[in-house]
Amino acid sequence: MSQTWWRGAAIYQVYLRSFADGNGDGIGDLAGLRSRLPYLKDLGIDAIWLNPWYPSPMADGGYDVADYRGIEPVFGTLAEAETFIQEAHELDIKVIIDVVPNHSSTASAWFQEALTDREARDRFWFRDEPNDWQSIFGGPAWTQVADGQWYLHLFAPEQPDFNWDNPAVHREFEDVLRFWFERGVDGFRIDSAALLFKSDTSYEDLDEVHEVYRRWREVADEYGDRVLIGEVWLPDQERFTRYLRPDELHTAFNFDFLACPWEPAELRRVIDLTLTTHAPVGAPPTWVLSNHDVTRPVTRYGRADTTFAHGGRLHGMPSDPELGHRRARAAALLAMALPGSVYVYQGEELGLPEVEDLPDEQRQDPMYHRSGGTNRGRDGCRVPLPWAGDEPPFGFGSGEAPTWLPQPESWRKVTAEAQSADLGSMLNLYRTALAHRRDLLGDGTLTWLTMGPDVLAFTRESGLTCVSNLGTAPVPLPPGRVLLTSGPLEDGALPSDTTVWLTSLA
Ligand code: GLC
Ligand code: CA
Repeated sequence: MSQTWWRGAAIYQVYLRSFADGNGDGIGDLAGLRSRLPYLKDLGIDAIWLNPWYPSPMADGGYDVADYRGIEPVFGTLAEAETFIQEAHELDIKVIIDVVPNHSSTASAWFQEALTDREARDRFWFRDEPNDWQSIFGGPAWTQVADGQWYLHLFAPEQPDFNWDNPAVHREFEDVLRFWFERGVDGFRIDSAALLFKSDTSYEDLDEVHEVYRRWREVADEYGDRVLIGEVWLPDQERFTRYLRPDELHTAFNFDFLACPWEPAELRRVIDLTLTTHAPVGAPPTWVLSNHDVTRPVTRYGRADTTFAHGGRLHGMPSDPELGHRRARAAALLAMALPGSVYVYQGEELGLPEVEDLPDEQRQDPMYHRSGGTNRGRDGCRVPLPWAGDEPPFGFGSGEAPTWLPQPESWRKVTAEAQSADLGSMLNLYRTALAHRRDLLGDGTLTWLTMGPDVLAFTRESGLTCVSNLGTAPVPLPPGRVLLTSGPLEDGALPSDTTVWLTSLA
């Protein structure tokens, strides 16, 4: 793979707890992931991004990190992580891990020290009086400790925020980056990347944060060929792309595209905005349809309202599974054809729906608990994957212990095994599309074609043309040879909610 492999890569997101369970305790782990590497190779991805695998009390699914230089024992060992990195590399798959610089865990050595020793508190935000900030998960953003002081946590109380005004925090994270780069990791996904610095009035997108990423870029560049990817949720595209200047992060997640409704004008607007704001900084866009924080696309796209927003999540709004599927297939081909890199969140390639009927007592997400249940949270997109067989745990593990979240019985129809045998399945669509994508798509630019207000159509440098019909009536195909469609053509025309890839006739 080239020096700039990340510019056009297809990156598969592994939520380790829910991917595959190697030891039968009902929780995914490194042994399970290693056993499924051939599946990922077959799928045709270039890189894996793993959610946090560090030792953690799991108050927020591992985003409460107790030790940045270790592996959670439930997942495996550091030696096993190193073996995994090596095995992935042997298959020509890169490995990206999560780093969580905004906050730690109350179980971390630094925070434990801060609890007993006031002198050690400056690495966090301790104050005599809290301000009125609310936690992003709901409830106050401050928690009081035994001696009366309060500490800041933008997320759960188990996730104390670091004080980035303290140079020790800078040194610590540069050292953590090196620790993993030296173990072969190809890059980092930076959690809550815009939140690090705080002023009296704001915690979002303060200018000082850019100095940190400039320094991190220098560290990454020392190792060559490594990538820094920001989780940056900012409504302002201009502020967003400041993170992608040539001496800062390599790429960042495109949440505007993810949250965009399935409407042609809006999609066209978001795609254009993405391309025009990325071009001046020379960073490739990313195209993301789902991740471990958002409602699964087949459920989202089957609703009357196809947007996504964290607040409401539109939980329980009726969703037409047939429509949702059809659009999710069309959206996948669209996302994969656009210039830049693309993300696939585990289970997306199986077309899994959001599981909205989890029993409340089994819900684990702090977003659910801290909102008093008004926000149903993110557990519904984190249910363990169905691999094979007719009943839970569907090959996820051995079945000795129940899976950490229960799987719907109906998933017998959507296991990887069942879909492998079905040429028309979502899994085979992803496999075929990713294979073509390798040769014909990825980094570069596009040229729009005009095919009416309901149609998104463009051509890429390789001559591949992608057409998505978001209108209700079928549209005639432009010239070319049909390479792949997200659904059957109708008398040679492209039906509603369908995408086609064509190659030039020559
Ligand atoms: C990011 C993660 C999310 C986590 C939060 C706090 O948004 O994607 O899962 O809860 O940061 O770390
Ligand atoms: Ca396990």
